[in-house]
Amino acid sequence: MQINSFEAYQEAYKMSVDQPEQFWANIADKFYWRKKWDNVLSWNFSEPNIKWFEGGKLNITENCLDRHLEKNGDKPAIIWESNDPEKPSVTLTYKILHEQVCRFANVLKKNGVVKGDRICIYMPMVPELAVAVLACARIGAVHSVIFGGFSAKSIADRINDSACKLVLTADGSFRGNKQIQLKEVIDDALIGCPTVEKVIVLTHTRTPVSMLKGRDLWFEDEIKLVDTDCPAEEMDAEDMLFILYTSGSTGKPKGVVHTVGGYMVYAGYTFLNAFNYQPDEVFFCTADIGWITGHSYIVYGPLSQGATTLMFEGVPTYPDASRMWQIVEKHKVNILYTAPTAIRSLMSFGLDPLKGSNLSSLRVLGSVGEPINEEAWHWFDEHVGNSNCPIVDTWWQTETGGLMISPIAFVIPLKPACATLPLPGVQPILVDEQGNEIEGNGVNGNLCIKFPWPGMLRTTYGDHERCKQTYFSTYPNLYFTGDGCMRDEDGYYKITGRVDDVINVSGHRIGTAEVENAINMHAGVVESAVVGYPHEVKGQGIYAFVIFPNLHNEADLTKKDILQTVTRVIGAIAKPDKILFVTGLPKTRSGKIMRRILRKIAEGDTSNLGDISTLLDPGVVEEIIDKSKS
Ligand code: PRX
Repeated sequence: MQINSFEAYQEAYKMSVDQPEQFWANIADKFYWRKKWDNVLSWNFSEPNIKWFEGGKLNITENCLDRHLEKNGDKPAIIWESNDPEKPSVTLTYKILHEQVCRFANVLKKNGVVKGDRICIYMPMVPELAVAVLACARIGAVHSVIFGGFSAKSIADRINDSACKLVLTADGSFRGNKQIQLKEVIDDALIGCPTVEKVIVLTHTRTPVSMLKGRDLWFEDEIKLVDTDCPAEEMDAEDMLFILYTSGSTGKPKGVVHTVGGYMVYAGYTFLNAFNYQPDEVFFCTADIGWITGHSYIVYGPLSQGATTLMFEGVPTYPDASRMWQIVEKHKVNILYTAPTAIRSLMSFGLDPLKGSNLSSLRVLGSVGEPINEEAWHWFDEHVGNSNCPIVDTWWQTETGGLMISPIAFVIPLKPACATLPLPGVQPILVDEQGNEIEGNGVNGNLCIKFPWPGMLRTTYGDHERCKQTYFSTYPNLYFTGDGCMRDEDGYYKITGRVDDVINVSGHRIGTAEVENAINMHAGVVESAVVGYPHEVKGQGIYAFVIFPNLHNEADLTKKDILQTVTRVIGAIAKPDKILFVTGLPKTRSGKIMRRILRKIAEGDTSNLGDISTLLDPGVVEEIIDKSKS
């Protein structure tokens, strides 16, 4: 299953296009199925209706746990590193992890959870989070993990959208020198969530929490009441595995749905190949399990391959900027998979923090989440990889389930800051605004995928039409990624960033409409428009133009109030970096905001704003430019 030469890549790629069913069947064969599939693939992108390995029966946790027990039971499955460097790390062998997952699954069962129920997980980055995710999968419950930075309102929206029955949380979480009161946030969220029957609370930060009689239970009490025997639920390949909410151009975040069989095969295959994982290596993905990267490359990908995955609770700069390098040395990390934002933030501390740590265990480096700039790429290469470790710049999305366009370490010749070539099974195509294919090399276009791959989303929870409209309607018979892309003279793909109204802040996807809605909820705000602008560390920052007619003379206080409102409505991750009070917005005669102009102003590039004659009131542009400069 592992590709070891460029020729082997070309061969695998060719087969994946010429005989996709045979290609994926061969790969799926390497996993454990209780019953093999009847049909590898049936699909159309018009409804869309995509089915992989139909008729196959399996449980993903048997692939991630049980099947490793005999040979690798004592091998570390998860190594956990605390936020506090003084605290001992924790190692869960496959045997222990299996036991813990079974126990946790029994706790869920005891509390009435059955196959198909939706479970919301809002937990810190502790081993129990990975255990909770796998425990859901063990009994066929659908997990919906929510990142710790979201507000009570965002959580409530997500819980209600998928009618979750139970919530798994903790008293609180540590991130650097901050503490987040998770249970308190959940308590606020649950005021408006009638479907939630039980809340199971893990003790972690030991902060006082309120426990509601009949609803709230301590994890530590519950776990004592169950045993370790929990047979895995038999699942159909196309049964739902999880929901993960993500932002788009319009409306509320949508619940991207992944199913058991295809997702497992895709996460496992891409993990093993792109990173060239070797048995006994330690793989460290710095993402949070609240995002797709954590799902696929902390939990399911590595564990499905019997790998050792390192999970870190904290942030790279706590207690200081040497923390990540200390972790690499301490656990002899072989593969380090992180985000450009983290690299840029560590770069800003200079080279001193790197000096005390031995990084010679590193063999492969990876980057994900946003375009990596060349400066960061070279810094990562030279100072972390000692110019000796391939960097895999992996392009993919929540919706794709796993890596799509990415180097395969030691196999695909690299170019700095370039995602290079599609993995086998991935058929990218560039199109113009009208949907015409842009052929040849040295071209730019909108990135689409023209053939299904096993890890792709199947629907958006509770609203299949939305899935169709968002991904499959812009260009008929193509999956539209929302990204712009260049195919260079060598046929290599370089992602240039979103072409829709999504901002990528520190690798987090945020919809401009969502932020605008949040700002507009603030008393006194009449209207707002939000755009992204280049930010040295975060990649993109959020720039908000706000109409607030009765501004008093403490405008800075009002800005802080608005930030507070956004934090309440969405979460701290969506707070604008800049707010500019304006009296009008550039609108066309039909009332559409011309974001193109605002983007230019936010970038500080007002020399060529293009044609503004179609604006209802071109004078407003002058005013905004003046204010943005003052
Ligand atoms: O714009 C692309 C950017 O992140 C988006 C997907 O975000 P999300 O679903 O949150 O998943 C992030 C982790 C997979 C994409 O549409 N993106 C992701 N990876 C890269 C990237 N942009 C450039 N280069 C990448 N390697």
